[in-house]
Amino acid sequence: MTRPATLLGLELPLLQAGMGAVAGPALCAAVSRAGAGGTLALYREPPARAARLVREAAVATDRPFGVNVVPEVTGPAACLDQLRAILPELPRGAFVTSFGLPDADAVRAVQAAGHPLVVQVGSLALGRGAAVLVLQGTEAGGHLLGRMPVDLLLAAVRARHPRAVLAVAGGIATGRDLADAVARGADGAMAGTLFVPAAESTAHPEFKRRVVEAVADDTLITSLFEIGWPHRPHRVLRNPPPPPRSAPRPRSSPPPGWTAGHTRFRATARRPGSHHHRAHRGDGHELRPLLHPRHRPAPGRRQRRPDSPGVRGRWRT
Ligand SMILES: Cc1cc2nc3c(=O)[nH]c(=O)nc-3n(C[C@H](O)[C@H](O)[C@H](O)COP(=O)(O)O)c2cc1C
Repeated sequence: MTRPATLLGLELPLLQAGMGAVAGPALCAAVSRAGAGGTLALYREPPARAARLVREAAVATDRPFGVNVVPEVTGPAACLDQLRAILPELPRGAFVTSFGLPDADAVRAVQAAGHPLVVQVGSLALGRGAAVLVLQGTEAGGHLLGRMPVDLLLAAVRARHPRAVLAVAGGIATGRDLADAVARGADGAMAGTLFVPAAESTAHPEFKRRVVEAVADDTLITSLFEIGWPHRPHRVLRNPPPPPRSAPRPRSSPPPGWTAGHTRFRATARRPGSHHHRAHRGDGHELRPLLHPRHRPAPGRRQRRPDSPGVRGRWRT
């Protein structure tokens, strides 16, 4: 039994990242039932809905699960409102995860309710009150908390805090990745992208398909899709190169009409020769424009059903 697993009551030293528009009660509960740290994303959910989602997750698993807040997106006051609404709904043994440092009131509220706090950071600025620290490296999908690759960050934090309970986040995709991280001094890991294609995830099917087909080299770090995280660069899937000017334009216009709403992306586009496609809510990952046939998977490329790697199987190292 590893330290994060012991502290959080898990069978496995693996946490599923809270992911806005991806990690609802179904994914959270499925991961939790599988013995890892399933986590419900609250992102900007209003307090009453947040409490309802927590109740849904709680009835779907009898094992520990987490609830994720993002104080720098909601602001400290709204984050505290979310916490005040959900803490009374949390079963014993549930934990709270925070993307970035929560303020002192939030830390006190979680501790007073008797739940362990898991804080994800991307630098050496470590918050107080965290039972488990998640060190996010620049390999991570989604918004980035720092500028250091995960191994450097882990080595630096471990040297300063030899007794801290540390999990790593960024590019964890297999049991071997987790085992390697533990060999380098981590106590466990958090994974996000790995769970996006799961059957229980609420990500759009097209997003799932692209994640399954992508390799690390298909990603890049940009600052295009802020979605409430000011000044946070983020790792997304790379767009295919635009068609040459001489190429016939798709019949629809304008080109991919995604717009950044306050809480969610809505991406609309027309695929050549297909019906109007509405590609959804979520992080920048799915916003690879859908317009050009070049986007279709290369012939002979291995195809998997988007929902095939669901979390129903067990995590093995
Ligand atoms: C689609 C997506 C959405 C995310 N949304 C959140 C979020 O709402 N809250 C949060 O704490 N982290 C969020 N993250 C970041 C994760 O906490 C974590 O740092 C990251 O997924 C780890 O890297 P990996 O995706 O390579 O496993 C998100 C990540 C992805 C890929």
